[in-house]
Amino acid sequence: MADTYQHEPPYTIGVICGSIAASSINRRLANALIKLAPADLECSFIEIDALELYDHDRDDDYPPEAIALKQAIRQSDGILIVTPEYNRSIPGALKNAIDWASRPYGENALSRKPVGVIGTSPGAIGTAVAQQHLKSILSFCNAPMMNETEAYIQFTDDLLADDDSVAKESSKEFLSTWMATYDDFVRRVLTVIPKPDGSTAA
Ligand code: FNR
Repeated sequence: MADTYQHEPPYTIGVICGSIAASSINRRLANALIKLAPADLECSFIEIDALELYDHDRDDDYPPEAIALKQAIRQSDGILIVTPEYNRSIPGALKNAIDWASRPYGENALSRKPVGVIGTSPGAIGTAVAQQHLKSILSFCNAPMMNETEAYIQFTDDLLADDDSVAKESSKEFLSTWMATYDDFVRRVLTVIPKPDGSTAA
């Protein structure tokens, strides 16, 4: 039997916020999740606001912002996407970033990259439809996704404190558990039997 490959923690997690608004409630939720992350996750934001619109005519001449995006994803052990729902789907800015990350053909930075998806909205179904659309897109991009414990967070005034820590006790417990489950998911994806060429998930 082949040896298993164990990528020891800490794990670097690239956090992508699907909203580019300065006042984004999803940015605030992302800040809250980073505060709740288990100690073996090292989270940092990957920004998507400087990307121009994806255009496959640029596949041989990627703009520096898109090269930086792909490098940041490649250097991350896992990706955490915190997204709003816009018109029952994901924001164009997020789809644009995924399109850049997935190309040129054969150089998809998201392939085999463990991804967690979460989001918040003032609406009662808390980004559920956007998350389903996002999972469909990520599935095509060959990204393993955390399916255990979906998290559709309704944003209410009492959810977060001014410093973006979770103020509501029941939500704090739920989101802490969700981050611990995500940590375990990343570890399980990164603990794999190597391919014949020696490569692994990350
Ligand atoms: C929204 N909003 C929204 N909310 C929702 O639950 N389902 C939806 O389909 C939409 N559609 C939608 C479209 C557009 C263009 C905007 C600007 C907003 C409301 C949305 O949840 C709210 O504005 C959040 O504050 C958006 O998240 P960020 O950008 O603040 O993180």
